[in-house]
Amino acid sequence: MPALPQHVALIMDGNGRWAARRGLPRIEGHRRGAGALLGLVSCAARDGVKTLTVFGFSTENWHRPPQEVEGLMALLRHYLKAEVTELHTNNVLLRVIGDRAALPPDIVTLIQDAEALTAGNAGLVLVVALNYGGRADILRACQRLAAAGGPWREDALAGHLYTAGLPPPDLLIRTAGERRLSNFLLWDLAYTELHFTDVLWPDFGEADWRAALADFARRERRFGGLGT
Ligand code: IPE
Ligand code: IPE
Ligand code: MG
Repeated sequence: MPALPQHVALIMDGNGRWAARRGLPRIEGHRRGAGALLGLVSCAARDGVKTLTVFGFSTENWHRPPQEVEGLMALLRHYLKAEVTELHTNNVLLRVIGDRAALPPDIVTLIQDAEALTAGNAGLVLVVALNYGGRADILRACQRLAAAGGPWREDALAGHLYTAGLPPPDLLIRTAGERRLSNFLLWDLAYTELHFTDVLWPDFGEADWRAALADFARRERRFGGLGT
């Protein structure tokens, strides 16, 4: 049986271009993108992937026009209210990573409620990165480790990251043709296999998911050693 990634990280990119190509407002692309994510969650859960970590909003995305940021927050609010029950029914455990302090307070409450509701679920772990930056994550972990007085070891530092307790991603998928990390999970991606596709995120479907898994299955992971 081909190797299946246990943990998949995902940079859902290209929503704006998807909308622009259709003469639609960018937020329409984000709306379609959110739909594509729900589809992917089903595929990943069905295929036995344990953890899916998705980049929802970066620490740099605040630089977008206020109208787009507000539209994204409104979309997030809607999904946290309307779709969490569905995730819960499907046994998904939701975990949000990133700095919540800058998010609207009602969204923070919705996140807490969603996490509490799904905390006991044993199915797919869906990690959503909101106001997340890899550099900010590492800096915060260092501050917390310093406050704890060490020990200054890699595993101890990792224990203070937002992603503490999660295995590192085996596979990272980025859509829309960009070949960069854009400050996502910088510590965790050290040995992750990278899969890039030109497909824009709202168009990403089952066939693209299977292509990413097939690409992963062909990789030989060596972790600095000599492999098999
Ligand atoms: C990704 O799509 C979604 C977020 C960053 C929130 P983009 O909005 O970055 O889409 P493009 O890259 O402009 O096409
Ligand atoms: C990364 O995409 C962030 C998310 C997908 C949430 P961006 O579109 O913000 O990345 P850059 O600006 O092209 O590097
Ligand atoms: Mg983009």
